[in-house]
Amino acid sequence: MTQPRPGGPAMARPMVIAIDGPAGAGKSTVTRALAKRLGMLFLDTGAMYRAATIGVLDAGIDHDDAQAVAGFVRARHIDFTDAGDVRLDGALLARSRLRSPETTAEIWRVADNPACRSHLVALQQALVAGRDAVVEGRDATTVICPDAQLKIYLDASPEERARRRLSEWPGDKPQPSLMEVVSSIRDRDDRDSHREVGALTLTDDAVHLFTDGLALNEVIARIIAYAVQRQPFLLEKLVLDQLIVGRSRQPGYVRVAPGNLPGASDGWQLGLTNPAPDRMPGTTRSLTRNHGGRQAGTLVQGAAILCLAGRGPVPEHVVALPMLPQTWYIIEPESWHAVIQAHGTICAWAESDRIIEERFELSATQISELESFLGVYLPH
Ligand code: C5P
Repeated sequence: MTQPRPGGPAMARPMVIAIDGPAGAGKSTVTRALAKRLGMLFLDTGAMYRAATIGVLDAGIDHDDAQAVAGFVRARHIDFTDAGDVRLDGALLARSRLRSPETTAEIWRVADNPACRSHLVALQQALVAGRDAVVEGRDATTVICPDAQLKIYLDASPEERARRRLSEWPGDKPQPSLMEVVSSIRDRDDRDSHREVGALTLTDDAVHLFTDGLALNEVIARIIAYAVQRQPFLLEKLVLDQLIVGRSRQPGYVRVAPGNLPGASDGWQLGLTNPAPDRMPGTTRSLTRNHGGRQAGTLVQGAAILCLAGRGPVPEHVVALPMLPQTWYIIEPESWHAVIQAHGTICAWAESDRIIEERFELSATQISELESFLGVYLPH
């Protein structure tokens, strides 16, 4: 049985992150990693167009006959195994064949066909119904999941996308030049954004994320930050992983105490206490609950987020930790939480009622991830 989601009815709706963007913008890699990180279903809708295309080619359908193509595709069932491999009427399709240049060149016969699209969209909507999911495609934000809580338009320059495509070109196939790939990418962009139904569109409510020069982990950290802004319960999943959390804007203290939240007698309370309450009264804003010994995050002061993680049962004492201005907080899995200064040194971590002085360096990857997350979450 799945755990009830914290946050009450407002949080009960499944979280859908819809990601569209042109070919080669890194959608597949980003969305796959993102879904894994957030523990959500990953739906690669392009793979379904690829599977349908292979079906058409293998069945010997006259692919210039749009009605015959539609009739064939609408009778097909396409889904995924638990491992994420696509199936056409129950038969597994090899990844190499799905992504081969021959398949890619013929996809438009299915993708430009409105009757094929409506069938695939219905299958896609059924696959994500009631689930937390990351949905990737060309019409994920507009047609498949128009009500998604978070819409991302993942973009990169045609040159950058062509370089990425060439770096994954199959070794047994002759490599085209960079300019040839740029030109075929421009053709595909044109086709994807001008089709009659389900055209690739940058909508007003989508975040336009341009990824030239960003490493994969930075792109993911930014999307996570947007997702957390919309659905704070996601922090709970991230706590289990190891994360990033926030930065205080002013000095204060974090206090954790056995809770007396209504209806949550076994919870903890977490809040920010300002040392000068006369100047800033009522600063303890948000409270969170303890779930099985691990603590979730909360929005403090509307400006900083703090998460605490713990192995133990409900604590018997108050933990106080100085919140320094310009300080980052990070969760250490399987332990309590740490305080990290802006230059990336962990300067202290809290365990039960003590603060233990510790120092160790974060990796460059962890720092870039923190910066990407905070750049979105707490813009300067
Ligand atoms: O994302 P991927 O490159 O695998 O998609 C292959 C092709 O399938 C795209 O170029 C696009 O023409 C089509 N497609 C689509 N609608 C989607 C996903 C993919 O038209 N939702």
